[in-house]
Amino acid sequence: MIALPPHEAPDAPDAPQIRPMTAADVPAASAASAAAFDIDIVDEPGRRSWEKRVAYSLQTDPGGAFVARIGDRVVGVVQAVVRERLWCLSLLAVDPGAQSRSAGRLLLHRALAYGADVDAGIIISSNDPRALRLYAAAGFRMVPTFDAEGPLDRRALPPTDPAIAGAGEDDLDDLAEISRALRGAEHTAELRFGLSRGVRIVRHGDRGFAVLDFGRVWLLAARDEEAASALLWHVLELAGADGDRTPSVRWITGEQQWAIDVVLRAGMRLSANGAIGIRGRPGPLAPYLPSPPFG
Ligand SMILES: CC(C)(COP(=O)(O)OP(=O)(O)OC[C@H]1O[C@@H](n2cnc3c(N)ncnc32)[C@H](O)[C@@H]1OP(=O)(O)O)[C@@H](O)C(=O)NCCC(=O)NCCS
Repeated sequence: MIALPPHEAPDAPDAPQIRPMTAADVPAASAASAAAFDIDIVDEPGRRSWEKRVAYSLQTDPGGAFVARIGDRVVGVVQAVVRERLWCLSLLAVDPGAQSRSAGRLLLHRALAYGADVDAGIIISSNDPRALRLYAAAGFRMVPTFDAEGPLDRRALPPTDPAIAGAGEDDLDDLAEISRALRGAEHTAELRFGLSRGVRIVRHGDRGFAVLDFGRVWLLAARDEEAASALLWHVLELAGADGDRTPSVRWITGEQQWAIDVVLRAGMRLSANGAIGIRGRPGPLAPYLPSPPFG
């Protein structure tokens, strides 16, 4: 893995300093990252849920987690996770009040050194020009993506493919093989984490699986486009049935014409947003819709 070359070390007293993240940093790192992503953590369940998410990658990959501080205040966080032969940027965020002062660059530099011996990498990027610039500078090939959002036209729904069934803990070994075939690494720990938070997993035999996180398609990996389309239709139907949640599908690359076809036929709105950064050869990544925090 190539490391992002650092600029000269900032020595001004208010320059960001980077250090390894500890469990004690979780509340401050969660607050900084929630502010950066405009995530509402004012209510208690929302705050706890985001803190659990931030604590998760620290627990699995403490060596890939760092915080930036200015003075005594934690203003930014980075988390990288390594699964088998894949490095993945799980979180990079700087509090809006401290952005554009090199914290993001310094954090990413440290996270890239973690897992420097694995040959493939993936970043599910926001649309922030600073993020896109940093990832491209670090040697990632940037692939632009689309978002699809909007109420589902239920008249467009095809009958559910009878081969699709709900999946849980007992299916994780089988699903690991599908993830390996598509992106070079399993998702087992992250699927287990998702299940503990109430996500729904469905599988199409050994041809593919999809994960739905309360209205959002959180991951879809399939060995062929027919299975991928059937899975996407099915999770959109489940999402549409989730009360007032508007279904969304994000990080759709141009390689996923099967997904573009489904979301447009489902009546959803498509817009360009974000990118996927790829380094080395994780796998075909098609038919594939990545998990935002875990690739
Ligand atoms: C993306 C983010 C982490 C970058 O961190 P940061 O501390 O604000 O950015 P940095 O100061 O390190 O700047 C990064 C690069 O963008 C450039 N940059 C700084 N401000 C910029 C601006 N307003 N517009 C465009 N480029 C800018 C910097 O010059 C630097 O490039 P260089 O290293 O070639 O000089 C941070 O802005 C953020 O949290 N954004 C919102 C959340 C988000 O989108 N996170 C990324 C998720 S994938």
